[in-house]
Amino acid sequence: MLYIGIDLGTSAVKLELVDENGAIRNELSRSYPVNYPHPGWSEQDPEEWKKAVLEGIPELLRGFDARQVKGIGAGGQMHGLVVLDGENRVIRPAILWNDGRTQKQVDYLNEEIGRQNLSAWTANIAFAGFTAPKILWMRENEPENFARISKIMLPKDYINYVLTGVHCTDFSDASGMLLLDVKNRRWSKEMLKICSVAECQLPKLFESYEKVGTLRPEVASLLGLEEDVVVAAGAGDNAAAAVGTGVVGEGGCNISLGTSGTVFISSERFGVDPNNALHSFDHADGGYHLMGCMLSAASCLKWLEEDILRTTDYTGEQAAITEDRLGKNTVFFLPYMMGERSPINDVRARGTFIGMTLGTTRADLTQAVLEGVAFAIRDSLEVARSLGIPLNSSMICGGGAKSPLWQRIMANVNRLELKKAATEQGPGFGGAILAMVASGAYPTVKDACGKLITVASSVKPEEKLTALYEERYQQFRQIYPACKALFPKLQ
Ligand code: XUL
Repeated sequence: MLYIGIDLGTSAVKLELVDENGAIRNELSRSYPVNYPHPGWSEQDPEEWKKAVLEGIPELLRGFDARQVKGIGAGGQMHGLVVLDGENRVIRPAILWNDGRTQKQVDYLNEEIGRQNLSAWTANIAFAGFTAPKILWMRENEPENFARISKIMLPKDYINYVLTGVHCTDFSDASGMLLLDVKNRRWSKEMLKICSVAECQLPKLFESYEKVGTLRPEVASLLGLEEDVVVAAGAGDNAAAAVGTGVVGEGGCNISLGTSGTVFISSERFGVDPNNALHSFDHADGGYHLMGCMLSAASCLKWLEEDILRTTDYTGEQAAITEDRLGKNTVFFLPYMMGERSPINDVRARGTFIGMTLGTTRADLTQAVLEGVAFAIRDSLEVARSLGIPLNSSMICGGGAKSPLWQRIMANVNRLELKKAATEQGPGFGGAILAMVASGAYPTVKDACGKLITVASSVKPEEKLTALYEERYQQFRQIYPACKALFPKLQ
């Protein structure tokens, strides 16, 4: 049997063909653009996702017996606002998770509606990237578009709609809309009222591992698949990545270094960070999780290497960061290239290099970016540790985790043993696992993860380096408070 996992990312969709033993038989990636129509805004055309998926799947299957494919499951970029009209046509480009246009609506929700109410209804407060503030933004700024909304959904839900014709979402992804009562897994009547949204405009809620439907006949024939292929509800990309690295059940941790950087802590019990610095969301295994999300992680490195230093030789650039330099860099980098979510919640924060001299080299800058991202991840980890969550080891995944140097810096800055799964495929692999459960190959997500995921390697913190990095982290922590008041004036 074969299963297709879809990772609907921000820069590309990654497709994986996985067998029931967890072996990846084929994979491919199709990229699409992100549009930044104003500084701090970010949008994407859902039709680009659709095209990439519908063209990519037949290519993925080339040379394989398509009749063996039994299920499809997606993990998708979270929080994006996708709006459809009564004819199921996309009304406007999707407003993405790292879009910062909604400061006014976020202030209204957090200050006037009140953080306490929001947290009681949804387990979270408002952040600029969340979906509800975007709905309010649309109501205020695009009333004609707002009046045409028949369905609101999230990015991977649009793909599931294209595949099955069902308007659906799952609890993990719906958690990031600020419209869901996360604890009780139902829409929040209070939030729907505040956003002028009727329940019939929202998709039907499923557990991530449930079947939402099968392929529409015309889609099946376009893709060369059987019509009875099961489509799972899927998950937000972080929950899907956690499934893909086996972080399910109580007390697991996964760090993802992708376009965004996240710390994901799974739990069987519902819990809320009293300061709401970490998100409290449902998990794709039927449980819950806490999550800290930084908006720019591996994307900072991509920006420095490709846009500024004009190279794609990441390995070569990092080779210049020699052993004697670790923990001793006097150049620091604040990775707030699109503002920042966790834990500082400041859309006006900006990327910053500080501490340079005429002797500063390109290797110092690259090192500062690797370290700056690690320090910012530690900010979220420290919040979790302050809640009494013991964090000594974590899985790590995402493009950034491919660099052994970055993994080592991450382990030492964060005082964590970092483990990589044998199949380090993150959300796509998690999506395939959800498809296996939805089509009955495994009884539960936990059971599937137990059978399919093994740890392949691990990096432990080193005494000398953790001490050096502790000092650097304490210095890093002083930079944002020193710059904070300046950032709004720079815009
Ligand atoms: C999580 C978040 C990001 C996106 C990236 O809250 O906003 O990790 O899901 O795709």
